[in-house]
Amino acid sequence: MSYNLLKGKRGIIFGALDPNSIAWITAERVHEEGGKFVLSNAPIAMRMGQINELAEKTGSQVIAADATSEEDLENLVKKSVEILGGKLDFILHSIGMSINVRKGRAYTDQKYDWTQKGTDVSAMSFHKVMQTLYKNNAMNEWGSIVALTYMAAQRVFPDYNDMADNKALLESIARSFGYFFGRDKNVRVNTISQSPTPTTAGKGVKGFDGFISYAEKMSPLGNATALDCANYTVSLFSDLTKRVTLQNLFNDGGFSNMGVSDAVMDMVTEN
Ligand SMILES: NC(=O)c1ccc[n+]([C@@H]2O[C@H](COP(=O)([O-])OP(=O)(O)OC[C@H]3O[C@@H](n4cnc5c(N)ncnc54)[C@H](O)[C@@H]3O)[C@@H](O)[C@H]2O)c1
Repeated sequence: MSYNLLKGKRGIIFGALDPNSIAWITAERVHEEGGKFVLSNAPIAMRMGQINELAEKTGSQVIAADATSEEDLENLVKKSVEILGGKLDFILHSIGMSINVRKGRAYTDQKYDWTQKGTDVSAMSFHKVMQTLYKNNAMNEWGSIVALTYMAAQRVFPDYNDMADNKALLESIARSFGYFFGRDKNVRVNTISQSPTPTTAGKGVKGFDGFISYAEKMSPLGNATALDCANYTVSLFSDLTKRVTLQNLFNDGGFSNMGVSDAVMDMVTEN
């Protein structure tokens, strides 16, 4: 169902790799709600991914940008304003990657070059995106910037590895930059802390199947899907949430406030 919540709004959506990507489903929902956007992903992901299909479906243009490259981001922001015909109202940062996770290196046995690369891609890129937007004065007043995170920023999930630290930094950057963006440009900045979701990045985490079914059993409303996340993001891009900022918002079916559920008790209790 569409409510035209984003009619007349323009933005950039980072991170749509394939139809499972949270950014892909968000792009579809933003399109349904009347928003116009440029799609962006890393050059390598664009070769592997199916982003052109999404672009066609949503009437969007695609601009490659490695989100760790200030030069690429500068080009992306300038061209997006040109293509879309004005300053931007919304940004989705849906980017994450850990080489340690990908290559199965334990948290206690990090290869620090990989750790640094993961931090640059998963967290520092958010600062770079916002600094580029800020310096170019590319956001409209009352615009909205959202990044996606996971609860391992607050609590221990051993196999989430160095991504836990990256998410903690990402959430901190949202608050710190959100202050300046709010004070100077009336732009809000938030993170959505999403349930485990079966995507390329999600399934890369060791023991993901156990992870997702445990969260499902713990959450009174069950796990939030990628579509739930897309809908929440649409609400944060809309004018209905104008003074929500500097927040880390849990979209997780209640998981983050649970101690234990009956379903999990049944699993661990010997009868
Ligand atoms: N899937 C989950 O369980 C889950 C849960 C909570 C939060 N998240 C977060 O949601 C976001 C989106 O992930 P997803 O689950 O949709 O997986 P995904 O694999 O579909 O998306 C990750 C994206 O990051 C992009 N990316 C990687 N390196 C990049 C770079 N240098 N420059 C630009 N883009 C780059 C990839 O190409 C890909 O499109 C990530 O921040 C992830 O950590 C995912």
